[in-house]
Amino acid sequence: MGKAMWDILSKRGGFELVGCSKGDDVNEKISGAKIVILAVKPQVFSELAASIKIDLSGKLVISIMAGIGIEKIAESLRTKKVVRTLPNLALKVGQSLTIWKAGEEVSGEEKLLVREILASFGQEVEVETEEKIGIIGVVSGCGPGFLAYFGEKMVEFLVKHGLTPIEAEKVARQTLIGTGEVVKANAWNLTDMRQKVSSKGGLTEAGVREMEAGGMGEIFAKGGEAALKRSEELSK
Ligand SMILES: NC(=O)c1ccc[n+]([C@@H]2O[C@H](COP(=O)([O-])OP(=O)(O)OC[C@H]3O[C@@H](n4cnc5c(N)ncnc54)[C@H](OP(=O)(O)O)[C@@H]3O)[C@@H](O)[C@H]2O)c1
Repeated sequence: MGKAMWDILSKRGGFELVGCSKGDDVNEKISGAKIVILAVKPQVFSELAASIKIDLSGKLVISIMAGIGIEKIAESLRTKKVVRTLPNLALKVGQSLTIWKAGEEVSGEEKLLVREILASFGQEVEVETEEKIGIIGVVSGCGPGFLAYFGEKMVEFLVKHGLTPIEAEKVARQTLIGTGEVVKANAWNLTDMRQKVSSKGGLTEAGVREMEAGGMGEIFAKGGEAALKRSEELSK
């Protein structure tokens, strides 16, 4: 994610970027920075925070780490100018949905800057509470994985009916790509969209009816709750 952000921001211009990799002297690298973006795995954050000795209080810290709250970042880095963001995988193609919340000492001007940076990665949405980051993250963060899982089920179905795995993968992938493009090109809500491909007495209608009768709605809701529970556990 850090590399994708780097590529987008360097193409965009307007910022002098300094990268910091594992093994670099982090204090030296970030000492002259106005903004510090934390893009390490949440599991290595404590180790990284312990290695930061310089005073960060005048800098704006933007985290993309999933599951680590503003308070923990602020405490570990001894600064309250912290913005917590949650982009998703689509950041890699400039189509992220990034949700974010700023900590108490982030000024209005800094928030505008955050908005500007995050808009370079796709759409940005500021939320009032960190709980909302967890909830929206179940769909925006896990969504690409959930949809890929649905795609895998399409592949399994096609292979069961005689297509080779390569053929099946191609069909499922292009179906997901094409659907995304249709969603992008139209203002229909998702129910409208489903209804447009579900002619009365047709195939899609029969398929969706069977999925609903089989409990697809409840299964999705259970999956969402499990992801939300995990997000709450990880943020402790
Ligand atoms: N992937 C997603 O879809 C997604 C979505 C939302 C949020 N996020 C968040 O984004 C963050 C990064 O995820 P990722 O998938 O991009 O992980 P990743 O591929 O493992 O990237 C983490 C990078 O941080 C580097 N690093 C590790 N320790 C470091 C240190 N002490 N100083 C400087 N750099 C260090 C790693 O270097 P090495 O490769 O040398 O270890 C690696 O390049 C995570 O916190 C994750 O929760 C990811």
